[in-house]
Amino acid sequence: MRATMHLTKLALTNFRNYAHLELDLAPGLTLLHGNNAQGKTNLLEAVFYLATARSPHANAERELIRWGASSEPIPFARVQAQAIRRGDEHVHLEIVLVQAPDENQHPSPRVSKRIKVNGVNKRALDLLGQLNVVLFLPEDLDLVFGAPGERRRYLDTTLSQIDSKYGRSLSQYNQVLEQRNALLRDFRDRAFNPFELETWDRKLVEAGAYIVARRARAVTDYNRLVADIHARLTERREQLQIVYQPTFALEGPPAEHQMALSLEPAFMPLESTQAQFNRQLEQMRQRELGAAMTLVGPHRDDLRFFVDGVDMITYASRGQGRTIALSLKMAEMELMRAETGEEPLLLLDDVMSELDKPRRQALSNLLKNASQAIISTTDLDHFTEDVLSRARVVRVIEGRLEENGTSPANGASAPEPAAPAVETTAAHEPEQAP
Ligand SMILES: Nc1ncnc2c1ncn2[C@@H]1O[C@H](COP(=O)(O)OP(=O)(O)O)[C@@H](O)[C@H]1O
Ligand SMILES: [Mg+2]
Repeated sequence: MRATMHLTKLALTNFRNYAHLELDLAPGLTLLHGNNAQGKTNLLEAVFYLATARSPHANAERELIRWGASSEPIPFARVQAQAIRRGDEHVHLEIVLVQAPDENQHPSPRVSKRIKVNGVNKRALDLLGQLNVVLFLPEDLDLVFGAPGERRRYLDTTLSQIDSKYGRSLSQYNQVLEQRNALLRDFRDRAFNPFELETWDRKLVEAGAYIVARRARAVTDYNRLVADIHARLTERREQLQIVYQPTFALEGPPAEHQMALSLEPAFMPLESTQAQFNRQLEQMRQRELGAAMTLVGPHRDDLRFFVDGVDMITYASRGQGRTIALSLKMAEMELMRAETGEEPLLLLDDVMSELDKPRRQALSNLLKNASQAIISTTDLDHFTEDVLSRARVVRVIEGRLEENGTSPANGASAPEPAAPAVETTAAHEPEQAP
């Protein structure tokens, strides 16, 4: 048996349209059922936020703080969850967002973020990997039809969850990139000094080569997984191939490693990746000086999807795009399972309605094996009898939850359920204001 990971409790205060919510969760399927604009997506967003420290929707984090909260002296939002990992290990996760008090009237107030794992302050980087989630969204279509940045962000979110060195390298890379770009801009006004650039090149290559090599390895793994998944989803009519496009040529991993999931870091051609990165930087030096920005590196990578040799980013129908996105997400689940040894938590936001019958069936089959899944829908008819018979159905109504046929599931109007490690006081100000 695989170790299971699951949430046992979720508590929200002033998060989106939830003034106060407390939800006990069990392994298995939870269906959030409700009309539009009731808070289904918001609840899934909260779980994703706890897993990744970023929202799949919000551009600014202050959007996460409940509007009604801005009349309070210190507007804040809090998301907390209790999870069990590796069978018996309890983890308590918390993120508090606090709006800077002096900026209540400011058009775009600053927000500070405090993250705690088991009560101890942590960086966002250390939160990643505590809770592994795979999120299915209607917007997954953007992975196929959207800009390259969407695909990079997707890889980053997935890989940061399963590889802490990836997350660290990424954050380092982005810092170095910013400084290197500033220096390149600087050289427009003064003489170019190769020695100054050298330091930044070294740091850029060090962090960047790991990102590139890790992405390359992930795409190799994805291809192995997706071959079967996509063939099944299309009744063997289509063969999907994912191609990684870094900004410099890569030497692939040795052919004999192409057979199994390449889980060992030794398979990554890190040294040759560094060498190639360096070579390309040298070749692009004059152009980078001309453009006054960094033109080589993982911040300009892309992915391509080919079905039977045809570039899907250009030629896919919407239906094909949807199936490719679904294949990717299903492969991501298996990748996470293989990398972490645990079943990831599945979050499905209203995706059934977008799919035709065979693909709905495929997704329903996937739910059978999920250790825990939280699924939102406007329409229970989209689910098979089998799924419905095993699911707990919760109604979502204007930021409150109601258990089907029974009393409310959250503490808004019900008596406070016993919650040992979760602070639950509504309108409770965070202990540390900035
Ligand atoms: N910061 C916020 N404060 C209060 N309400 C919000 C905030 N952000 C979004 N909302 C509202 O939450 C409601 C529910 O959104 P959502 O979860 O997307 O609904 P559903 O997925 O059930 O259709 C929307 O009406 C939206 O306007
Ligand atoms: Mg929604």
